[in-house]
Amino acid sequence: MKALEDKIRAEGIVLSDQVLKVDSFLNHQVDAELMLLIGQEFAARYAEAGVTKVLTLESSGIAPAVMAALALKVPLVFARKQKSVTLKDDLYVETVHSFTKQQMNEVAVSRKFLSPGDKVLIIDDFLAHGEAALGMARIVEAAGAAVAGIGIVIEKSFQSGAAKLKEAGYRVDSLARISSLTGGEVRFAEE
Ligand code: G4P
Repeated sequence: MKALEDKIRAEGIVLSDQVLKVDSFLNHQVDAELMLLIGQEFAARYAEAGVTKVLTLESSGIAPAVMAALALKVPLVFARKQKSVTLKDDLYVETVHSFTKQQMNEVAVSRKFLSPGDKVLIIDDFLAHGEAALGMARIVEAAGAAVAGIGIVIEKSFQSGAAKLKEAGYRVDSLARISSLTGGEVRFAEE
């Protein structure tokens, strides 16, 4: 998606060979107009997929996901992160390991908001090792619902996540695919 790649080129800060900082438009300040375009792009790609819900993980997934939900005219559910869930009876809970932050998070969704028969579009801001997306997919499947696909704003194609998700059989739609961050420079994968 050209507008997103242009924004990454203009404002993305390469922190290391592994990490891109995009806090001016996605992870701290949010460019709402760009998020609207991103949501519309996801909605166009999934227009025929029968999506009934969008699912993301708080916090940075919420902005693009709410715009996708708006464009698809379906509800957005965001999984909540908690250190340790004690009362699990009415929740779907999965443990997700964050390589980037070196921590384990329990992510939880109320059983009220996912049902068998739902077709769920999973959205996340970054795809690195795929742990967050796989955790959300496990929650969807625990509810007896189906994963329509996984929509990613920024995929780091040089890390293992995209391959892992495709191997697991999921449709993956990434709007920007970064092939390398070496030498302080962002390179995009060829379409
Ligand atoms: P994974 O889910 O694909 O396995 O990725 P990982 O565990 O490595 O990511 C952990 C957190 O770091 C996620 O945010 C993810 O969005 C973010 N992240 C991963 N790579 C990058 C990167 O290159 N740049 C930036 N800015 N973030 C990255 P989170 O913990 O869920 O935080 P938030 O949603 O509350 O912001």
